[in-house]
Amino acid sequence: MRPIRVALLGFGTVGSSVYEIIQSHQQKLKQLTGRNIEVAGILVKDEQKRRDVADQVVITSDYQQILNIPDLDVIIEAIVGVEPGYTCLTEAIEKGLHVITANKEMLAHKGNELRDAARRHNVSLKCEASVGGGIPLIGTLTQLLQVNTMTKIEAILNGTSNYILTDILTNQTGFEQSLKAAQELGYAEADPANDVDGYDAFYKLMVLSDLLFKKQPAWNQVAVKGIRETGLKEILAADQAGLKIKHLALLETSDGGAWTSVEPVALTDSHPLYSVDGVDNAVNLNGDLVGEVKLQGPGAGAYPTASAILEDLIQIYQHKEDNIQNDAVEFKSRDKQRAEQWFVLSQQSSLAGKNVSSNWKFEGDIDGWYGYQLSATEEQIEVLKETYPETKAYRLAGLPTQSATPALVSI
Ligand code: NAP
Ligand code: HSE
Repeated sequence: MRPIRVALLGFGTVGSSVYEIIQSHQQKLKQLTGRNIEVAGILVKDEQKRRDVADQVVITSDYQQILNIPDLDVIIEAIVGVEPGYTCLTEAIEKGLHVITANKEMLAHKGNELRDAARRHNVSLKCEASVGGGIPLIGTLTQLLQVNTMTKIEAILNGTSNYILTDILTNQTGFEQSLKAAQELGYAEADPANDVDGYDAFYKLMVLSDLLFKKQPAWNQVAVKGIRETGLKEILAADQAGLKIKHLALLETSDGGAWTSVEPVALTDSHPLYSVDGVDNAVNLNGDLVGEVKLQGPGAGAYPTASAILEDLIQIYQHKEDNIQNDAVEFKSRDKQRAEQWFVLSQQSSLAGKNVSSNWKFEGDIDGWYGYQLSATEEQIEVLKETYPETKAYRLAGLPTQSATPALVSI
């Protein structure tokens, strides 16, 4: 089987860790997907920086060079801000590539547009790393708590803020010193304004709102305050009163209304988030069936974030296998007999151990090309391509095989 070919957009704290883990965990990843994983390209801003990657990896600041990499399967985005991430992922989806992103700011602004595009083009959009770092949060909410109606989310969603608040209390440090430490540890963004002014937690809450409630509250109705003005004096005063200051994101719905806030709050020791310290994030949920559930773990940092991204990658390929999810494909050959052979093959029908679905459709001779349309798994498509290398193969992007004018994407 040919490898799964991946391109990374961004090679900072997150992107470089994904690269490192793909190299160090190759065997485990192969066990899980049945294929090697290969990083084929990396998009960066500054091409001149030295990067410790294999010679054959394309490193470029020109996204079209990434999209032109042959046989690319997946784009993993770890850039900061709405653009260029949104445009890059839109173009990738339109090309029939699966996409994974850690970028919550972009998702809060453009998540619905990307989800619609991914649905139309029959590709996966995964974003486990965008909220809660390494906590398996989005997968749990979207796959394992689907029957429940959620009424309340109360969460610590910014690792940098929680680290700073904990550090100031534990080590009696100043705000600036703790922030510098959070940056050195890879928790804070290069420009930490979103972290300490509350917007990073706000964007994450909007991503959760989209996933759980299929909508977001009006942004101008949400009070957003960060921890910039919460210093040693306030933290010690709270401590003396038996309280701990935490940066809390709250989303509560009832009777069609929604209450949302993102701000520092002094918690008593009976509160479920009181004991969440350091870089940890935690989400406390209330579901109508399950009751109260608390998920906690490292909310930022290189390896926890890369862990979430690689779990997304595995999910894409395991999911396809589990559900024998078929892609609509068209194969074309100048050789009529060859095209007819595919038809016979589909009737006998065992490719890569699994049946190809039977909706082959003979297209006949168009400009000297004989084509068949079929629906097959990724694995079966690979077998067909390897068996008949002289043929042309196209993915019928997001359209049923019966479509009169399908968008043909070369594969
Ligand atoms: P980072 O260390 O600042 O790295 C950003 C990378 O993006 C750099 O490699 C940079 O290129 C590249 N880049 C920036 N602007 C670009 C542009 N216009 N075109 C091409 N490349 C560009 O950031 P990070 O901490 O890895 O975070 C990346 C994303 O993951 C962010 O959206 C962040 O919110 C999210 N995230 C981070 C964490 C964490 O713990 N750090 C956790 C979860 C999610 P150069 O190398 O050339 O500068
Ligand atoms: N800067 C972010 C934080 C990274 O500190 O939570 C994880 O999203």
